[in-house]
Amino acid sequence: MIVIGSDHGAFELKAVLKEHLAAKGIEVEDCGTFDGSSVDYPDIAEKVCEKVKSGQFEFGILLCGTGIGISIAANKIDGIRCALLNNEYSAEKAKQHNNANVIAMGGRVLGPDLAKNILDAFMNASFEGGRHQNRIDKIHALEK
Ligand code: RB5
Repeated sequence: MIVIGSDHGAFELKAVLKEHLAAKGIEVEDCGTFDGSSVDYPDIAEKVCEKVKSGQFEFGILLCGTGIGISIAANKIDGIRCALLNNEYSAEKAKQHNNANVIAMGGRVLGPDLAKNILDAFMNASFEGGRHQNRIDKIHALEK
């Protein structure tokens, strides 16, 4: 199960990615927003990240116009490693090296096909552990 949320800058991309995941038989919980009315992306980031922290979801997807604001907000939350993704290579590394538990993308930056490919690249990769786990531990030590 995956949790997803977007602000008004990316609710259309959210629908595209939900459909993409549904076609693979993957369940998605949607934290909104559902139309173009203005909302504040930190509120969406908080909702999705709290769900990720609950441990009930494999990972979270956050979307805003650029992906920047919502990823910055997500990375303020303890325990969250949010990767802002614009290409498949970074998506693969975000799982292999950073074991990101949230990914962010920009609805005004990426076309639907590229966004789907990025999501697939992230989901098809595996965390490599080892020295990367040590670095992740150091990231979370910075939260203290
Ligand atoms: C909203 O207009 C826009 O600022 C937001 O979607 C995002 O791009 C912020 O980083």
